[in-house]
Parts: sequence; C-alpha cells; structure tokens
Amino acid sequence: MSFEPKILGFLCNWCSYAGADLAGVSRIQYPPNIRVIRVMCSGRVDPVFVLEGLLIGLDGVIVMGCHLGDCHYIDGNYEEKNKIDLLTIALEMIGLADRFRLEWVSASEGVRFGQVVTEFTEQIKKVGPSPLSGSNPDLKLRDDLEALKRTFDDIRLRALVGRQRTITEFGNVYDKLIETERYDSEIDEALKSEIMRNKILMKLEKDSLSVKELSKLLDIDSNVILKQIIALKAKNLIDFDRIDEITPYYHAI
Ligand code: FES
Repeated sequence: MSFEPKILGFLCNWCSYAGADLAGVSRIQYPPNIRVIRVMCSGRVDPVFVLEGLLIGLDGVIVMGCHLGDCHYIDGNYEEKNKIDLLTIALEMIGLADRFRLEWVSASEGVRFGQVVTEFTEQIKKVGPSPLSGSNPDLKLRDDLEALKRTFDDIRLRALVGRQRTITEFGNVYDKLIETERYDSEIDEALKSEIMRNKILMKLEKDSLSVKELSKLLDIDSNVILKQIIALKAKNLIDFDRIDEITPYYHAI
C-alpha cells in the first residue's frame, strides 16, 4: 500500500500563510498531505506543540515563518530559531529529527512554498510512517518523547532559551556578555540533564525503584542515575519508598 504521510504545518500569518495562499491562487501543484494551523508569528510556535504533534502519531511537522529580518514582530523568528535549534538537538537524540523542519517562506514565494512542501513530503515518505502511529506504537519512543515534552515545558529551560539573545548579544544583569559557544554548551548540558531527570521521574511515577533498576531500565550508568536521584531528592520531587536490605527504593512525590 502506498504511504500518504500526515503532515502538520504551522504557518505565520504575514509571510508563509500568504505564500501558501499565493501558491493556491497561482495553481501551483504540491502534495495534499499538509494540514495547516495559522499562527500570527512563527515565534508563537512552542516546541511543545511540535512534540505533541509527534506524540499523537503525525508523520511530520513543519514550521514556516518570515525570512530572518522580515518578522512583523521584529525578532519573533529569531526567537523561534533559538527554540527550534534546541528542539532539533533533542529530536536528534531520539532519532526523530528527520520528521521536523523549520523553513522561511515569504508572502511572494508561492513557488517556494510548493517546493518546500513537496520536498518535506518526499522526505517523510522516505523515512516512513511514524513509529507512534498504528496499532503497535513504539512505547519506548513514546516515553522518550513525553520526557522531551516535559523538558520543554519546564520553566527553567524556557527561561534560559528566552534569554539567549539578551545574554549572548546584550549582556546579563551585570552587563557581562556570555560567548555563544559557552552558552550553547551550557544549554546543551542543561537539556540533556533535564531530559534524563524527566525520564527518571516518569519511571518513579509508575513504580518504586532502586538506582540499579533505573540504570537497567533506562540504560544509563548507575553513577549518573545516582547523581540525578540526589538532585531530584533535593528538589523534593522524589522520596524514599523503603529500604530492602541495604538497597533504597525511591518513588515520585
Ligand atoms: Fe512571520 Fe514573525 S510574523 S515570523
């Protein structure tokens, strides 16, 4: 059977949606696989929206906005690019980066809109149906995506991403500029650590487990798990459940 991907597109009102409109009135041909949600600016698209789309089994998600420098809200698309760069790193970790794309399409680029949709549809056809669709979804991948969604929903990460341009271009509250490379590596570390903490928390919400069991279930070194357990305990997100012989078991609060 031929596979017809289900693709969700978030299009900014002022450029890409108008570009799609132009493609329509110009009778430009492109695959009918995309369903569109119009947003006022690409900056409105929260990474959580993308992750939610992938979680419900969509085969691909694309975000389109005005070209950099042309955003009608001045820097909405720069903000979006920062968020999406981080989202792409996170999706690469779980092998889903191919199912997502960010593109800039202006109101006069009807032809380009058709090309972008055609290319992305072809790309999704190559990678195949979402492992989360159908009657036998990949449950491990679903847990990984859920952990990503929680991570991007977390206020600490949102604050860090939201302040990226301020910190790297204008300076922090002490007028100190942080180099982009240093900021990138710190946010990369924060992202990985938050994802791991959310994976541990999700397991401890379902069951009380020891460090060794968590290490086996998540395939992560037990020393790393122990470090995260200490951090979660300090934040009052988990507690001791019991001690079996000399092994402590933990559960989420
Ligand atoms: Fe189009 Fe901001 S208005 S990206």
